[in-house]
Amino acid sequence: MPRKDLLDIASLDRSEIDLLLDQAAPFKEIFTRSVKKVPALKGKSVLMLFYEPSTRTHSSFEVAAKRLSADVTNFDVAQSSITKGESVRETVETLQAMRTDFIIVRHKASGLPGTIAKLTKASVINAGDGAHAHPTQGLLDAFTIKEKFSDPTGKKVLIVGDILHSRVARSTSTILKKLGVDVAYLGPGSLVPKQGPENIRRFTNYEEAMKWGPDFVYLLRVQMERQDVQYFPSIREYHKLYGVTEKRLADIRDRGLYIMHPGPVNRGVELCDGVMDYERSLINDQVENGIAVRMAVLYYLKPERE
Ligand code: CP
Repeated sequence: MPRKDLLDIASLDRSEIDLLLDQAAPFKEIFTRSVKKVPALKGKSVLMLFYEPSTRTHSSFEVAAKRLSADVTNFDVAQSSITKGESVRETVETLQAMRTDFIIVRHKASGLPGTIAKLTKASVINAGDGAHAHPTQGLLDAFTIKEKFSDPTGKKVLIVGDILHSRVARSTSTILKKLGVDVAYLGPGSLVPKQGPENIRRFTNYEEAMKWGPDFVYLLRVQMERQDVQYFPSIREYHKLYGVTEKRLADIRDRGLYIMHPGPVNRGVELCDGVMDYERSLINDQVENGIAVRMAVLYYLKPERE
């Protein structure tokens, strides 16, 4: 049974994940054509409701919807009645009256997309809510890894950095575990929570983590905007202890490891400039795959009023 909403990875079962990832592949093939468009969602409307900034997720959802021939409206929060105090509930009820088919939501409050989903017949897609979930990022990361290893079972992914505040770490590690991938976290003790999945190794030392033998090094953005206290002494110290420096990049190259990052990157913090030209950097593949995966999600979900 197709589902109405996509709110997190945890509620997706393995067959749905396989279906979405399998569907993304033919959608990606469309990108190589001169006309990069199919009529699958012709006549449907997609509303982008972003309360937090975004480059990749926002633009790739917009491109994905347009490549499926949907009509896209960008709801400008800064110019809306939200600035006059209108609540999320009233905003959603207004949008409901407009018979929008899909609402794509980003908000700093964990769980808000789920609340919106209960208020509307439209399909709601979580485009990132607080530190809770970013399901389409998880899907695009899994798709990118599967492009390198069609059966990723037993492959090792080391997620490095600010795990504590990261919805990306949560969604990506959840989907990878569902696909049988071995996941480990590396970061300062203050940013790697001890609670959480038992079957994820935790490292606080870079060299120890590399001895574990990862196939992929997945760097997270240090999210200064979500840090209420100072979790490490300085950016310089963070880069020295956990960043991919030029020296570490040479070692990563020798080992043939892939590097991933959800973006936006902080150069000189998570990674050095050389990573952007590294032949096994998958950062741009992640961006391109984000469109294909989001097309698959829009194609799969079914709004209630259909
Ligand atoms: N990966 C990601 O969510 O990036 P944006 O914040 O640019 O959307």
